[in-house]
Amino acid sequence: MSPRLSLIERYAAHLPVTARTPRLSLGEGGTPLIRAPSLQAETGVAEVWLKVEGANPTGSFKDRGMVLAVAKAAEDGATLVMCASTGNTAASAAAYAARAGLRCAVVLPAGRVALGKLSQAIAFGASVVAVRGGFDDALRIVRDLAADGGAALVNSVNPFRIEGQKTAAFEICEDLGEAPDALCIPVGNAGNITAYWKGFRESAMAGLASRTPRLLGFQAEGAAPIVRGAVVERPETIATAIRIGNPASWATAIAARDESGGAIEAVTDAEILEAYRLLATCEGVFCEPASAASVAGLRSRARAGGLRGVRVAVCVLTGNGLKDPDTAIRLAPELREVDASTRAVRAALA
Ligand code: F0G
Repeated sequence: MSPRLSLIERYAAHLPVTARTPRLSLGEGGTPLIRAPSLQAETGVAEVWLKVEGANPTGSFKDRGMVLAVAKAAEDGATLVMCASTGNTAASAAAYAARAGLRCAVVLPAGRVALGKLSQAIAFGASVVAVRGGFDDALRIVRDLAADGGAALVNSVNPFRIEGQKTAAFEICEDLGEAPDALCIPVGNAGNITAYWKGFRESAMAGLASRTPRLLGFQAEGAAPIVRGAVVERPETIATAIRIGNPASWATAIAARDESGGAIEAVTDAEILEAYRLLATCEGVFCEPASAASVAGLRSRARAGGLRGVRVAVCVLTGNGLKDPDTAIRLAPELREVDASTRAVRAALA
């Protein structure tokens, strides 16, 4: 058996890689695209697919962009990579830096990073600093710190991140044999919607698809600057991954929305949590709350009649549910504890 090609090898022709770019890999990309029968029945959309990005090595889509950003940093002779993060970018940067033999520093909003993500950054050996502020503060600070060239900034303002992340659009077109009619995606710092739009345009140019999809982006209602058209000073949402008030890729997200004939809308925390629960209990897919914003958006548009002409939809599930065990446990009924006897357990299950 020969191992599957790494993301950099597989898409080398579409990526800014040279002979000198290290062929870094932790097995990223090639994630499952699975059917969602319950969502099809509910929304009336003939084909609903889930792009399960939580299957990436560190459990989120960030690995696609990070592998390239870190490989290019190593190629350029960097010894330190740095990022601000709501958690997933930090986990991914820390893993790829460890693999490439680089140091990694991450700046996080104190008390607002899901436990799984924080444990990853620590386990991979990153220097972690928590600031009393939000993601937007953290990003401002790392931009300052990296400005003197001492560290490679690996947030999605780094163009290599976008290049790597666009490969998810290629995979969707390859798997479906065509672009979907619509792509539903959560929007935080807005790098990923930017990357998908680039990927779908390039897929069409490369003949992997005959057209491009409408991009439907979803922000959490309490953190919806693009929807409101104004910076949100104190963003608030249960979906901590997308708790962002001033997205770095704002302009390119608007371009993706408008050029694709799509929309960027808000979903409430209640809608996010309902979609989160439904995905797990009806489809068997455990994603993190921010990821469920894509499905919350699909469902809300379906109810409002906003999916006319959509026969094939793909929802991007950006991160694994295990990232945020606290939210899962908090929503669950209290765990029952009984005596270790068959009788007691039978009674408890009745
Ligand atoms: N979903 C998850 C699970 C995320 O971690 C993020 C962003 C997004 C969606 C939104 O993607 O920012 O490209 O619009 N997480 C970043 C981080 C901000 O630091 O991990 P985006």
